[in-house]
Amino acid sequence: MNFPLDKFKQIPTPFYYYDMSLLQYTLDEIKRCIAGFPFKVHYAVKANANATILEQIRRAGLGIDCVSGGELAAAISAGFAGNEIAFAGVGKTDKEIAAGIDSDIFCFNVESLPEMEVINEIAASKGKVARIAIRVNPNIDAHTHKYITTGLNENKFGINVPQLNDVVDAALAMQNVELIGLHFHIGSQIRETEPFIMLCEKANELLQHLEARGVKLSIINVGGGLGINYDDPDGDAIAGFDQYFGIFKQHLKLREGQELHFELGRAVVAQCGSLITRVTYVKTGIVKKFIIVDAGMSDLIRPALYQAHHKIENISATGTPTETYDVVGPICESSDCFGTDETLPITHRGDLIALRSAGAYGEIMASRYNCREFPAAIYSE
Ligand code: LLP
Repeated sequence: MNFPLDKFKQIPTPFYYYDMSLLQYTLDEIKRCIAGFPFKVHYAVKANANATILEQIRRAGLGIDCVSGGELAAAISAGFAGNEIAFAGVGKTDKEIAAGIDSDIFCFNVESLPEMEVINEIAASKGKVARIAIRVNPNIDAHTHKYITTGLNENKFGINVPQLNDVVDAALAMQNVELIGLHFHIGSQIRETEPFIMLCEKANELLQHLEARGVKLSIINVGGGLGINYDDPDGDAIAGFDQYFGIFKQHLKLREGQELHFELGRAVVAQCGSLITRVTYVKTGIVKKFIIVDAGMSDLIRPALYQAHHKIENISATGTPTETYDVVGPICESSDCFGTDETLPITHRGDLIALRSAGAYGEIMASRYNCREFPAAIYSE
């Protein structure tokens, strides 16, 4: 990625930098892959709720997947229409459900019977009918980090398959909910094809089962989860959309009039964002050399929380000679470390470092730990 270094020199660090042309290219690729199919992509706001980014995603025609009243409000203030919004989440409060109903959202992804009862009651009190999809826990191992695996029986998400019939019957008996579909989500940062193929097979099986019971569904929502290449953000800047959508085109047997919905977060925004930080000190220890930067786990928590690695580049110094460093933040925790034994050009105080692929689950997960300021956001255009 070509970073505008002259511009960066004037800006206080740390800050997130977003390449809006890469975001546009990513959105164009998604549109190209789904053209001509009854597919709809809802962008998962949890990955990045930045207003400028939401605006560009809205202009590309994607819908929204939100999981809180705050995300619903962010989507609406970015101009998304209620009927473009799906609302998921295992613990929606009464206030959040009421806000969704007031916004006439497209659909609630319902995760339990008690939640469905509350949606029914609140919709009744407003004289409305709320559309719902039942989130099914398909018990599929997504082979990803345990914190971001969601589709196993022991996970808190969704309705387990043996309970599905009862929940469907309960939905059909309710006056103020309309059952329109099934929803699945098996996890995040999935780079293998097999879990998605298994998901298609499970969805086919359940659709056939419900069809045999006379239940008609107009949407199937297969959630998100498509992973990206954190090791090679330049060589592999666009996620494997062709292969991913291809799996569903080939394996998921949609019925006449059914739509297939997706909730992609990371694959849409991860590669367009980098966290830019300045080297405060280079410190020589007994066995290690440390680059201490002014960004920490409060700005980008993924390495500390999921042992994730974001590619580290010194964008002020290039080429050789190189040196081996641990790249660490200023926060008083040993987990505040972005990389160990990184080979980088000889680095000096004041150099700018880019932590790549940070557009998803970066800025949005920032905290004020150690009473630090939130990082700023800068856009290429
Ligand atoms: N739909 C549902 C129901 C979800 O729970 C999620 C993500 C998505 C869609 C979007 O998944 P994506 O396409 O982004 O993989 N903070 C973690 C990721 C947590 C994902 C939570 N759910 C990380 O930084 O890796």
